[in-house]
Amino acid sequence: MSAFGKLVTAAIAGLALSVGGVVTAAAQGPWVAPPEAKNMKNPVKGVGDAKKNVETNCVSCHGASGHGDGPAAAALPPPKPANWTSDAVQKQTDGEIFWKISNGRGAMPPWKHLPEKDRWELVNYIRTLKGK
Ligand code: HEC
Repeated sequence: MSAFGKLVTAAIAGLALSVGGVVTAAAQGPWVAPPEAKNMKNPVKGVGDAKKNVETNCVSCHGASGHGDGPAAAALPPPKPANWTSDAVQKQTDGEIFWKISNGRGAMPPWKHLPEKDRWELVNYIRTLKGK
């Protein structure tokens, strides 16, 4: 196969994978972080540039106030972007939220490429929205 042909095949396989991922996530029910994530200690204090980070990377889905009602949310199949202010999110440990931000699921992209410090600051930022 030509290099181009291989590229196209790989792209189609990738697409099928990501579409499959969304479908599987929908069928998976509640999203639970693995037990080892639960006790991970948050080594970072404060929110740093998290608000900017959120505006760039998260509000399209999670909304300007974190309620899960960003402009892209309507077009997504369930499970919808999480409401960060909700008990369902806030009752989780910092480690669990950090793990979910890092790994993603379905339509929720993984953010492992962001520095760890930035990801913990995102967790701290989400904490400031509790009950809002
Ligand atoms: C393309 C849309 C999209 C973007 C962009 C996005 N998310 Fe999400 N997010 C989702 C969806 C959809 C879910 C629900 C996933 C599920 O339950 O399977 C989710 C879930 C979450 C959860 C898990 C809450 C729970 O259920 O416990 C956290 C935390 C989160 N997102 C944080 C972030 C952060 C931080 C960013 C930006 C750095 C971000 N998300 C960007 C779509 C998005």
